[in-house]
Amino acid sequence: MHGIEGRVALVTGAGRGIGAAIARRLVAEGASVVVNDVDTEVVVAVAEELGPSVLGVGGSVADAEAAAAMVAAAEGHFGGLDILVNNAGLTRDAMVHRMSDEAWDAVIDVVLRGAFHLCRAAAPLLRRDAPHHRKVVNITSINGIYGTVANANYSSAKAGLIGLTKTLAREWGPKHINVNAVAPGFIAGTRLTAVRDEDTGLGIAAEVVDAIVQQIPIGRGGTPDDVAAVTAFLASSDADFLTGQVIELHGGLELIQVVG
Ligand SMILES: NC(=O)c1ccc[n+]([C@@H]2O[C@H](COP(=O)([O-])OP(=O)(O)OC[C@H]3O[C@@H](n4cnc5c(N)ncnc54)[C@H](O)[C@@H]3O)[C@@H](O)[C@H]2O)c1
Repeated sequence: MHGIEGRVALVTGAGRGIGAAIARRLVAEGASVVVNDVDTEVVVAVAEELGPSVLGVGGSVADAEAAAAMVAAAEGHFGGLDILVNNAGLTRDAMVHRMSDEAWDAVIDVVLRGAFHLCRAAAPLLRRDAPHHRKVVNITSINGIYGTVANANYSSAKAGLIGLTKTLAREWGPKHINVNAVAPGFIAGTRLTAVRDEDTGLGIAAEVVDAIVQQIPIGRGGTPDDVAAVTAFLASSDADFLTGQVIELHGGLELIQVVG
């Protein structure tokens, strides 16, 4: 891909799953990357695994000061910021009539407020004059487009992230900043989509996972690398004329009623 080599990227929620795959792909394309996660231990391990062009920074995106520190780390360590990937996310599922304020706030604060914190903190660096475009990629979900059961906090936050994407594309387009979103469907094998552990009861029943995968026209669940590939494209100069778009990435399955 063109135009990632030599750039500086920041990926939130990069301690595992999709975020770690995005960081790995951006490093493979020649970027220097700040990887963040609220789980400091895992993100430091990811940084060590990926080598000297990667810096691990712990902290929650829901905390404005921590978000500012991630951006400052990119400037302090690598001299600026060209690519921001808002990937941090979590689920706290319940039907609306049983959802607590705490579950609502926990998801909105990370997925939507967290992305806002990062975009605002990164604005001075992203909006600096440069000979190349700068990029924001927001990892939303097909749930933010179609909704799903027992998931109103997450679906609402992901829908809000689409609003943020489209608004920033308008606000920052004149500064040659492309702002796009990826809306994955069922991405198998991450913590969010783990098959149920019979001991803890956490995760999705194996038969439900099978039922979802059987409905996907392309014949398999997605992988974190599938999301990383589309994110890298959006972060590259090959996508300099693409902005304000939401790329649905679901192997042809538009309505998943269980996860995502
Ligand atoms: N797995 C899927 O099927 C799927 C589908 C659609 C969208 N997504 C989205 O992709 C993104 C990555 O999900 P994943 O499947 O890799 O899940 P995951 O749970 O494996 O990874 C999410 C990471 O975000 C981190 N995180 C959580 N709260 C944070 C915070 N406050 N600050 C910083 N980091 C925080 C977690 O510690 C974790 O490492 C999420 O935004 C998720 O909503 C996933």
